[in-house]
Amino acid sequence: MYRATQLLTAATLLGATTAYNQRRYIDNSSGTPEVIIPGASSYNGLNLVPQMGWNTWNAFGCDADEELLLSSARHLVDFGLRDLGYNIISLDDCWSIGRNSSGYLVESPIKFPSGMASVISRLHDMGFKFGIYSSAGTFTCARYPGSLGYETQDAELWASWGVDYLKYDNCFNQGQSGTPKISYDRYNVMSQALNKTNREIIYAMCNWGNDDPYDWAYLIANSGRMSGDIYDSFNRPDDRCPCTEAPGCAWPGFHCSIMNILNKMPSITSRTMSGYFNDMDGLEVGNGGQDDNEYVTHFSMWAMNSSPLMIGTNIDTLSPQNLAILSNPAVIALNQDPSAGAAIRKWRYFVDFDDYGQGEISLWTRVLDNGDTVIALLNAGNSSRTMNATMDDIFLDQRTAGAYKAPPELSETWDVYDLWANRMSNEEAQAILDGGGNATVSNATRTETYNATATSYADGLSNNVTALYGAHIGSIAPSGTFTAEIARHSVGVYRLRSQGSGSLRKRDEL
Ligand SMILES: *[C@@H]1O[C@H](CO)[C@@H](O)[C@H](O)[C@H]1NC(C)=O
Ligand SMILES: *[C@@H]1O[C@H](CO)[C@@H](O)[C@H](O)[C@H]1NC(C)=O
Ligand SMILES: *[C@@H]1O[C@H](CO)[C@@H](O)[C@H](O)[C@H]1NC(C)=O
Ligand SMILES: *[C@@H]1O[C@H](CO)[C@@H](O)[C@H](O)[C@H]1NC(C)=O
Ligand SMILES: *[C@@H]1O[C@H](CO)[C@@H](O)[C@H](O)[C@H]1NC(C)=O
Ligand SMILES: *[C@@H]1O[C@H](CO)[C@@H](O)[C@H](O)[C@H]1NC(C)=O
Ligand SMILES: *[C@@H]1O[C@H](CO)[C@@H](O)[C@H](O)[C@H]1NC(C)=O
Ligand SMILES: *[C@@H]1O[C@H](CO)[C@@H](O)[C@H](O)[C@H]1NC(C)=O
Ligand SMILES: *[C@@H]1O[C@H](CO)[C@@H](O)[C@H](O)[C@H]1NC(C)=O
Repeated sequence: MYRATQLLTAATLLGATTAYNQRRYIDNSSGTPEVIIPGASSYNGLNLVPQMGWNTWNAFGCDADEELLLSSARHLVDFGLRDLGYNIISLDDCWSIGRNSSGYLVESPIKFPSGMASVISRLHDMGFKFGIYSSAGTFTCARYPGSLGYETQDAELWASWGVDYLKYDNCFNQGQSGTPKISYDRYNVMSQALNKTNREIIYAMCNWGNDDPYDWAYLIANSGRMSGDIYDSFNRPDDRCPCTEAPGCAWPGFHCSIMNILNKMPSITSRTMSGYFNDMDGLEVGNGGQDDNEYVTHFSMWAMNSSPLMIGTNIDTLSPQNLAILSNPAVIALNQDPSAGAAIRKWRYFVDFDDYGQGEISLWTRVLDNGDTVIALLNAGNSSRTMNATMDDIFLDQRTAGAYKAPPELSETWDVYDLWANRMSNEEAQAILDGGGNATVSNATRTETYNATATSYADGLSNNVTALYGAHIGSIAPSGTFTAEIARHSVGVYRLRSQGSGSLRKRDEL
C-alpha cells in the first residue's frame, strides 16, 4: 500500500509521460508485477524521510569542540527535541589538524581531548547519530585537509569511529566541476567509499546545486544542497548570492536569504523524493536576524518542501519562542510525511514594497501520503492582508491532468486544520527550558508535544494523533474558497482533510 502510493507519487513527480515511460521497468520477480522507477526510493535504503538534527556551522562556525557537542546533545534531550526527531549531531568544518604519516585524518587534540571515537560513542549512548564533515576538494572551505584523493581512507576512518552521517562540501575542488558528469564522478567516489565500509552512513552532498544535481544525485546521495549558503535574513538580497533560480546557476555563492532559497524550489519540485531531498540549508531559527513571524515562515516552508531540518543555533541559550517554533509537531509531521515530496507554488503576486524591494504573496500546496492536502498562504509583503485560496487553485493539478471528468476533490467538503494553532505557549516553553516543563509528557491528550522516538510520525498520522493535526478551524465547501488574515512576513499553514462526498461513497459501494 505504502509502496504503491510512493510509486504513484514518484510517477506523478516525474512529470512528462515520455520521461516516465523511458525510465520505468517491470519487476516480475515477486509474482506480482510491480513498476519500479529508479530514484523512487533511496539508493542505499537510508533517509526515506528528510534527516533532522543539529549542526554546528550556522551558530558556531569553526568554534566547535567536544564540550559543545555534548552539552548541546544533553539539552536536545532535556528540551524534548531529540524525541521530536532531531537525532543527528552534525559537526561541521575545522575539526582536524591534518593527516598523520599514514595519510589518515587526525582530530584536534585541543578541541577533542577525549578523541573523536570516544565522543561519538557517548553521543550514541545518548540516542544520537553522529555526523562528520569534509569537502570533495583538496581543502575544506575553512582550509583544513579535504578528502579529494583520500576518499577510501577517510571513509574507513569515519566508519571505524562510528560515524553515521557525512556532510560533504564543494570547496577547493580543483576545477573538477562544470558538467553534471564531472561533478557526479567526483561525488560518486565518496559514495562508493562510504558504501564499501558496510556501515550505514547518510550521505549529504553539499555542492550548492552546482551542475544541476537534481537529475543525478539521487543515484549516489541522500540529500543535496540546492543553493548557495543561507544567511539569517528573511529577504535581504545580497550580491554574493547572485542567482534567483536553481537550475543552471553557475555561481551559487553565499549570503542567500530565506526568500531567495525558497523561490529557487518551485522549478525543482519534482526532484525531491524519498531517499534524496533537496537541502535548503541549515535552519537559522534562533540566531537573531529575523522576527518571530519570519522564523515561523522559514521553518514552515522548509518543512513544506521536505528540506532536511538541521537546527543551526545555540541550544544552550534557546529562547522559549524559538523552542516553540522548532517543537511544533504538526509542522514537523509535514516534513516527515512518507510522501517525501516538495510543495508546488500555485501562484505568486507582487505586492507592496518593503525595505529590500517589492514584496510578494504566494500559495503553496502539497498532497500528503494519507490523501490530505496541505496549503501554505505566504505573505512576504510589508503589511498584513487577507489572503484567499480557491479550491480551483489548490487542486489545479488534478483539474488540469487531462482527466475525462471533473476531479472528485472539487465536489468534496474539506475540513481545515490550522497547524500553528496549538503552538506551545512561551510560558510552557520556558518551563521546559527551566527543566520542569514535562517535555517528557507526550501522548494523544497533549497537543503541543510528540515523541517520535516512541511512535513514528507515519504511525502517529495514521492514528490521527491530535498533536500532528493542529486545531480544526472550519471547513471549505465544494468549489469554495479559504480565506485567512496573514500578518506581514508570515505564513498560514493548513491541513485539509476530505469529509468525502456523495459521489465517492457511491463509487465505494459498487
Ligand atoms: C510477469 O508474470 C506474469 C505472471 O506470471 C507473466 O504472465 C508475464 O508474462 C510476466 N511478464 C514479464 C514482463 O516477465
Ligand atoms: C594514523 O591514523 C590512523 C587512524 O587513526 C592510525 O590507525 C594509524 O596508526 C596512524 N598512523 C600513524 C603513523 O600514526
Ligand atoms: C551499498 O550499496 C548497495 C547497492 O546500491 C546497497 O544495497 C547497500 O545497502 C549499500 N550498503 C550500505 C552500507 O550503504
Ligand atoms: C515595512 O514595514 C516595516 C515594519 O512595519 C516598517 O518599519 C517599514 O517602514 C516598512 N517599509 C516600507 C518601505 O514601507
Ligand atoms: C481576498 O478576498 C477578499 C474578499 O473578496 C478581498 O478583499 C481581498 O483583497 C483578497 N485578497 C487578496 C490578496 O487578493
Ligand atoms: C508535569 O506533569 C506532572 C504530572 O503529569 C504534573 O503534575 C505537573 O504539574 C507538570 N508540570 C508542568 C510544569 O507542567
Ligand atoms: C520518548 O520515548 C522513548 C522510547 O519510548 C523514551 O525512551 C523517551 O524517554 C521518551 N522521551 C520523552 C521526551 O518522553
Ligand atoms: C497523557 O498525558 C496526560 C497529560 O499530561 C496524562 O495525564 C496522562 O496520564 C497521559 N496518558 C498516558 C496514557 O500516558
Ligand atoms: C483517522 O481519521 C480519518 C479521517 O477522519 C478516518 O477516516 C480514519 O478512520 C481515522 N483513523 C483512525 C485510526 O482513527
